[in-house]
Amino acid sequence: MRTYLPSRKVIAVLAAALLATGTAACGNSDTGGSGSGGDGKITLGFSQVGAESGWRTANTTSIKEAATGAGIDLKFDDAQQKQENQIKAIRNFIQQKVDVIAFSPVVESGWDTVLKEAKDAKIPVILTDRSVDSADKSLYKTFLGSDFVKEGRLAGEWLVEQKKAAAGPVNIVELQGTTGSAPANDRKKGFAEAIAANPNLKIIASQSGDFTRAGGKQVMEQFLKANPKIDVLFAHNDDMGLGALEAITAAGKVPGKDITIITVDAVKDGMQALADGKFNFIAECSPLLGPQLMDLVKKVHNGEEVPARIETQETTFTQEQAKEALPNRKY
Ligand code: AHR
Repeated sequence: MRTYLPSRKVIAVLAAALLATGTAACGNSDTGGSGSGGDGKITLGFSQVGAESGWRTANTTSIKEAATGAGIDLKFDDAQQKQENQIKAIRNFIQQKVDVIAFSPVVESGWDTVLKEAKDAKIPVILTDRSVDSADKSLYKTFLGSDFVKEGRLAGEWLVEQKKAAAGPVNIVELQGTTGSAPANDRKKGFAEAIAANPNLKIIASQSGDFTRAGGKQVMEQFLKANPKIDVLFAHNDDMGLGALEAITAAGKVPGKDITIITVDAVKDGMQALADGKFNFIAECSPLLGPQLMDLVKKVHNGEEVPARIETQETTFTQEQAKEALPNRKY
């Protein structure tokens, strides 16, 4: 029987093909991704919370622009403030075999199952803006975002200083963000811890306005009806504070004077209200996370080590500081 021996040319072609397959497999071995863009670009599946606030709009713009700038193929999904939509989007990204998944979790709890599915599919996950309360930290590579407890604390410390001479009770109402979300939980905590320094400072009502202007207006109307003496409003974001302005004015009160207003974010409309004397203080929360996120996407895709936590650098604004900062404000 004659044995077939392949020619040297055939062997060379086979070897080249094997080498090419091996290289591609190595490139993706840590990520499990298939480079589903098909054009050699990294594919990022991103699930956004929604479009509830000016902050969110600025955050979405930052992410989209940064992805384009970094040459990353972005698959963007808007979850309309619903956890089930985010879980569905993440499962779709897994099915599509994207290279990296990033998301801003609408609430803190209930992510373990879907994060485990991503891990089993060897797709690295990055948390951005908001975190999750999963005990298993291996379910995601890193968390990029603000220290929300600190933002609440800074807001509370400013108030303690302002009201240090107050002889009687100072009645505070609080507009919370989305129930169960990290910024709502943490800002509430930080603020409460700070104002505990002065027993005169009392939160007399606290309710969610879901981070929206409409929610802020509606809940503030209820607060005003139920409480004849409101000295301070702490709103977990600018948008709810802006909505509340309408309710306060309609109730015949002067925002920023009759009621001291403290918010979080420092988006342009909030900064304008602060510069105009309608707000009194803002703790900044930066939405410009896109460039840092894309950098992390590239690193985790390449299998590089990244810090488990990357905190956004932020500041605070008084009325005078807002007037100075407004002309150069990017969002
Ligand atoms: O997670 C960040 C928060 O979400 C912002 O403070 C708020 O405006 C947004 O909706």
